[in-house]
Amino acid sequence: MAETNRILPEHIGIIMDGNGRWAKKRGLPRMAGHRAGANNFRTITRYCNKIGIKYLTVYAFSTENWSRPKEEVDALMRLLYDYLQEALRDFREENIRTRFIGDVTALQPVLQQLIAETEELSADRTGLTLNIAMNYGGRAEMVRAAQMLARRVQQGQLAPEDIDEAMLSASMYTAGQSDPDLIIRPSGEYRTSNFMLWQSAYSEYVFMDDILWPDFTEEDLERAIDIFNSRSRRFGGTVAK
Ligand code: FPP
Repeated sequence: MAETNRILPEHIGIIMDGNGRWAKKRGLPRMAGHRAGANNFRTITRYCNKIGIKYLTVYAFSTENWSRPKEEVDALMRLLYDYLQEALRDFREENIRTRFIGDVTALQPVLQQLIAETEELSADRTGLTLNIAMNYGGRAEMVRAAQMLARRVQQGQLAPEDIDEAMLSASMYTAGQSDPDLIIRPSGEYRTSNFMLWQSAYSEYVFMDDILWPDFTEEDLERAIDIFNSRSRRFGGTVAK
C-alpha cells in the first residue's frame, strides 16, 4: 500500500498498450482485447477521480493508428461510439469532466456529434478532467499550434519575437492544464509513440513491462505512483522539487 505522505501527481498520462497481446494470449480476436481495455479504462478513470487526481489523459487512438486493418479501425470507432453513448450518463455521479484532444474532425459525423455533446454536458463538472486522445499525435498538435500562431502573426496581431513557451503551451489541446507529472506505459514497450511530446518535457515515465493494459489494476496505478514518488524531480536544476 502507498505511503500516506506521498506526493500525488496532479496530471497522469496513460498509454493504454497491450490489448492485442492480451487477446492473443487468450486465443481471442484483437477486438476482445480492446473491449477489455475499454472496460479497464473506465475502472482506472474512476479510481483516479476517487484518489484526487486532477487530470488524466489516455491515448485511445493515434494519428498513426489509421494504418491498422480497416476492420480493427472500424471496431475501435464502434467501441468509442458505444462508450460515448454510455458516457453521456456515465461519470455524472462521479463529477468527471470529459474532453477530447486530437483532430476529431476526421471522425465520422455521428461520433463528432457525440463528442460535442459529451464535452458540453460535462463541461461544468469539477472532479477529474479526463482527456481522451483520439486521432491524436504530439507532432500534429505542435504543427497545429505553429499554424495558429503563424496566422496571428500574418494578421498582424503578434510579432514573431513575442512567441514564447507559454504561448505555445496555450496553443496545445491541453491549454490551461498542468503538464503530466507521470506518464505510464504498460506492456513492455519503451517508447513515447508521439504522446504529449510538448507537455512531457519533464514528465516522469514509468514503463511497466510485467502487465498488459486490460490487466492493469488500481494496485498497478498505486505502484506507478510509488515509483514516481521515489524519483527526484529537478526540472533541469540541482535541487529536487
Ligand atoms: C494499444 O494496444 C491500444 C490501442 C491502439 C487502442 C487503445 C484503446 C482502448 C483501450 C479502448 C479505449 C476506448 C475508449 C472508449 C476510450 P495494441 O492494440 O497496440 O496492443 P498490442 O501492442 O498488444 O498489439
